[in-house]
Amino acid sequence: MPTVAMVGAQWGDEGKGKVADVLSAEAAAMARFNGGNNAGHTVVIGGDKLVLRLVPVGILRPGVRCYLGRGCVVDPAYLLEELARLAALGVAVGGLKIDWHCHLILPYHVALDRAGDARLGRWRVGTTGRGIGPCYADRASRLGLRLADLYDEKQLGERLGALADRHAPTLAALGAQVDEGRVRDELLAAAPKIKPYGADVPPLVRGELAAGERVLLEGAHGLLLDLDWGTYPFVTSSTVHPAGAASSLGIPAAAITTVVGVVKAYQTRVGEGPMPTELADDVGARLQQRGNEVGATTGRPRRCGWLDLVLLKYAVETAGITHLALNKLDVLDGVSPLKVCVGYELGDKKWDRLAMPMDHLACAKPIYEELPAWQGQVAGARAYDRLPAGAKDYIRVVEEYVGVPAAFVSTGAGREDGFLRQALWP
Ligand code: IMP
Repeated sequence: MPTVAMVGAQWGDEGKGKVADVLSAEAAAMARFNGGNNAGHTVVIGGDKLVLRLVPVGILRPGVRCYLGRGCVVDPAYLLEELARLAALGVAVGGLKIDWHCHLILPYHVALDRAGDARLGRWRVGTTGRGIGPCYADRASRLGLRLADLYDEKQLGERLGALADRHAPTLAALGAQVDEGRVRDELLAAAPKIKPYGADVPPLVRGELAAGERVLLEGAHGLLLDLDWGTYPFVTSSTVHPAGAASSLGIPAAAITTVVGVVKAYQTRVGEGPMPTELADDVGARLQQRGNEVGATTGRPRRCGWLDLVLLKYAVETAGITHLALNKLDVLDGVSPLKVCVGYELGDKKWDRLAMPMDHLACAKPIYEELPAWQGQVAGARAYDRLPAGAKDYIRVVEEYVGVPAAFVSTGAGREDGFLRQALWP
């Protein structure tokens, strides 16, 4: 049985919630492998919109077993809030298994993230303010607290004390305060509610593989936000690359047989950092408004622009993407003319691939290929042959440039809007 990893192929917000929901219809198990509640995976079922930030989207499919790998970071208060929200909707959350080794996002991390980023001037990242970077930094510094610490009150107190001491001078310099006693009390109060979800996740996921079950690995964010492969320093702090799924879940990298790269039919970015095809004109405003491009986590308007095929090819090659899920094609209905970026001009040189340090993207001038607008409507189409000819051409141009097929095409927000062109599970 193949194991399918789903990753964002742009700067996040590609519509991974919807694709994860479609793919989970045939999955037996589903695991999130990176990030925390900085993600926002949106699913629209019967007109009702639901945003999941931490729990795998498969929780919405009765019977799908859900896991969080140790590459994820967990804010205890947020986790309980999301579980309560789901339970109130009648979703069975009791079977969720969270790796004991997941690191905990604490109020220290949130305070450091917010006050720290604001001080960076032109290097400000524009984070989601959820404490993600400082939490992963503490993990690397061997200071972090993990879910396992919730099982031992003495250990929890000692480790929290060490973490609080280490951060006290920085917090004071930033003018931020965190009350250690209060953090400890909140953790101890949350512990009995969280412990039932704690588990040794790797053997469970390996068991799924050994039993030949269909396992869907749900990545958060997008490859261009990956700590190593993104537009550093304007990135998140986790591994978005699908290899991170193997490490997060303790499964062989070779077990991942299919990598679905989720991409929007145009480009968006939220937060700071270079975006060569960004449009500051009416077309950008139109994409923003028609695509409802507002951050699912922070409510910030997203920067919008033409699809950047150079960056998409980079993502396909770097992450070993085997299939694309092309989202929001309907947003381009009526946009005339259409453009896609096929290269960059930088100084007196032209590039048709990303053979330059990522930082240079800030000065790269896009080279566009213009495509005719299509007649007719993509919105709501549920079969490839219902698409206007021009929309089929657009898909073909994307596929030819990046060299992998668009196996799924989405034509609207709802679960039913769109179609598979190729099976992703055998
Ligand atoms: P952090 O992940 O909160 O540290 O934010 C780092 C950068 O990644 C910021 O530019 C965020 O806007 C961006 N980012 C993080 N998660 C997402 C996401 O799920 N979608 C889009 N952008 C994100």
